[in-house]
Amino acid sequence: MNQKYWFKDKVFYQIWPRSFKDGNGDGMGDLIGVYEKLDYIQSLGCDGIWFSPLYPSPGVDCGYDISDYMDIAGEFGGMEAFKKVLDGAHERGMKVIMDLVVNHTSTEHEWFQKSRQKIEPYTDYYIWRPAKANGKLPNNWDSLFEGKAWQWDEVRQEYYMHLFAIEQADLNMDNPLVREEVKQILRFWLELGVDGFREDVITFISKKEGLPDDHIMPASKGFFYFNHGPHLHEYLEEFKKDVFSHYDCMTLAEAPMVKPKTALKYIDEKNDPVLDMMIQFASQEADCMFTDFNHMKFSLRKLKKAYSAWQNGLEGRGWNMLYIENHDHPRMVSRYGSEKFRTESAKMLAVSYMFLKGTPFVYQGQEIGMSNWYPSDPAMYEDVQTRWQYENVGTKKSPKKRLERLWHGSRDSARTPLQWDDSENAGFTTGTPWFYVNENYREVNVADQEKDSDSVLNFYREVICLRKELPCVKKGIYKEYGKYSSALYTYSRKTAGQKILVVCSFSEKEENWKVPKEFDLSTAKLILCNYKDTRSLTLKPYDARVYLWE
Ligand code: GLC
Ligand code: CA
Repeated sequence: MNQKYWFKDKVFYQIWPRSFKDGNGDGMGDLIGVYEKLDYIQSLGCDGIWFSPLYPSPGVDCGYDISDYMDIAGEFGGMEAFKKVLDGAHERGMKVIMDLVVNHTSTEHEWFQKSRQKIEPYTDYYIWRPAKANGKLPNNWDSLFEGKAWQWDEVRQEYYMHLFAIEQADLNMDNPLVREEVKQILRFWLELGVDGFREDVITFISKKEGLPDDHIMPASKGFFYFNHGPHLHEYLEEFKKDVFSHYDCMTLAEAPMVKPKTALKYIDEKNDPVLDMMIQFASQEADCMFTDFNHMKFSLRKLKKAYSAWQNGLEGRGWNMLYIENHDHPRMVSRYGSEKFRTESAKMLAVSYMFLKGTPFVYQGQEIGMSNWYPSDPAMYEDVQTRWQYENVGTKKSPKKRLERLWHGSRDSARTPLQWDDSENAGFTTGTPWFYVNENYREVNVADQEKDSDSVLNFYREVICLRKELPCVKKGIYKEYGKYSSALYTYSRKTAGQKILVVCSFSEKEENWKVPKEFDLSTAKLILCNYKDTRSLTLKPYDARVYLWE
């Protein structure tokens, strides 16, 4: 029953609730604001919404530290506002998926509070270990957010594991009671009518038996002992059998460092898959090494390699989730595009991934080409990971260098409020915004772009409309051309009766394009482009074109 595949026809819009739209003037985005903007989301052609967490949370990790899984936070409008949004979305033919964050809970969650006091049945809900005889930590694993993965608890007089922030304690998924809790949470939301889940770092839920020290990885120690752990498939299978298979819903798993071959163990349609789609990170790694101080220069060849590996690797067997932005990465215009050619490069980036095979996601603000935020003071950052990095990574470098690194790498670069218009606070709130508004909101905002037929916003509408109209975008075979070019990305999508050829320039200079031999442009229709003069085969900076034959 999980196999209806409706998700293959959708285009999702990701809402990071704090910064989307404030509906009650308290400065924090909320569901009242979302309700007001449902028509806007629909007008983009998006017919699905992924909500980053809306649950009650102390907010240490902006909602990814949950203290109650079966409610909606008061600051977002509570359950009543959520039901209204859900109905409003469904009336518009839109699906709604929730964020399922069950690798860890907030330490303020009742389970943790009881577990630390060894109140049954919660004693083994988390991963507790005594200190080693020599006073050392239980093992040498690193937290991905701050320091080591262990925190001493004064109440229980033991360490608990936290792969993320100190206030995000890892659940012990090996405990069947914990898995029952997860299933209860799933049923609760599915019964309420939600259409599926984006599963937060779900590939981390099964830790290697014995929690051995990691003597291999130089940084992120433990990663290969908790990513794709021994019981992951088994637990996902259990969730599917006991819950998902009884509902018409979709599952999308966040999967850091996953390769297509491994992904197929979970999403191969021919092999009773336990998940529908996976979020790969390869397309985010073309300009950085997550562990290095320095960011690398963007490499188009690396990006193309990632896209092609996933397009070819899943062909005929699994379905891709397509994205260029989300709440965990800086803005793409500033990374793979160019702020100087903001409009052109934002449009080109849309073309680069929207004509691939899979289900595309658009992150709030991407559709108007929002760019990175450049705070003058590191104290302005909110994100727990960013703050820790400023204090602890590259401490020998100058404060200026460290700050600049965050400009390019911090998740907060993409978490500033959505820029609705050029009024104060970008029209995001009538109160004081909870976070800083990017200073460029007078030039970059929804209201202005609504009026301009050449805007990034209207271009996104066109792209989404085209991908829905053309069967070859849904079904066609993918082929890449000129893989050695470090400036151009050329690919085709082909079915028996239709084909398109896509070319995207990732260059600030003019570039000569060699049309692949098998295509005759004189018989093609140019159906999309971001420049007016498109006769020449000399491509302009960040040129993007789509040609059609049928
Ligand atoms: C995922 C989320 C991220 C969060 C982390 C811990 O990677 O996308 O925002 O901080 O998990 O829950
Ligand atoms: Ca609010």
